[in-house]
Amino acid sequence: MRIFALSDIHVDYEVNTQWVASLSHDDYVDDVLILAGDVSDSMARLEWCLGQFAMRFKKVLFIPGNHDVWVIRGGPYVDSLDKFHRVCEVAGQSGVSMAPYHHRDVSIVPLLGWYDFSFGLPDADLQRSWMDFRACRWPGSWTVGDVTSHFLQMNGYRRRDDTETIISFSHFMPRIDLMPQSVSEQTRRLFPVLGSERLQLQVQQLRSVIHVYGHSHLNRREQRGGTLYVNNAYGYPSETRIAAKTLYCVHEIS
Ligand SMILES: [Fe+2]
Ligand SMILES: [Fe+2]
Repeated sequence: MRIFALSDIHVDYEVNTQWVASLSHDDYVDDVLILAGDVSDSMARLEWCLGQFAMRFKKVLFIPGNHDVWVIRGGPYVDSLDKFHRVCEVAGQSGVSMAPYHHRDVSIVPLLGWYDFSFGLPDADLQRSWMDFRACRWPGSWTVGDVTSHFLQMNGYRRRDDTETIISFSHFMPRIDLMPQSVSEQTRRLFPVLGSERLQLQVQQLRSVIHVYGHSHLNRREQRGGTLYVNNAYGYPSETRIAAKTLYCVHEIS
């Protein structure tokens, strides 16, 4: 049984949709897919895409990304929390799971999250241009820190014993040092909205051997301590240099 990782499939783009539709119906029937968020803000496209993966893989483990909880199209949705719950429902109906999955001594654990500016404060330009600030709506006067707290407290899984091999996954980045030193100034300005240091505390607590993340769209395999951090985002059509645009096998159980 192989465990594949993919994130940021963004099926709003026709070329991405075609890639999903072109995947083999035979090659992955014994395999697990970790799908780490940013499928589409369109519920119909999300449902289609989850269904496509569910019919090809033995098991699909999914976690929503920021795009999946945008509330500017479709609906009506009360807010992004309402959208999140509707996405969870659609995931269940489409045959994909958002719960921890166990196979022999391996556990695959989803970690919800958001960004909380722990990687830096947004400048005026990011405040103006970051789409989530307009496309997401949260209850009352929630700050991004409150959104992060809300999702992090939903991650209740605890390591069972020392023999358990844990592969965790999140949409957001658990640590900013996974970004290369050489990134452009423009990319560096996005750091505040990439993830949360508090998410890393949960990865540490689980002692994950592998952590799959998305959101940055920058494909990486980086070892930090006992954890291999993997990004295998499919990304936007223009992102041909930073995304391999193929499934990546993170682990195999013989
Ligand atoms: Fe994305
Ligand atoms: Fe994202």
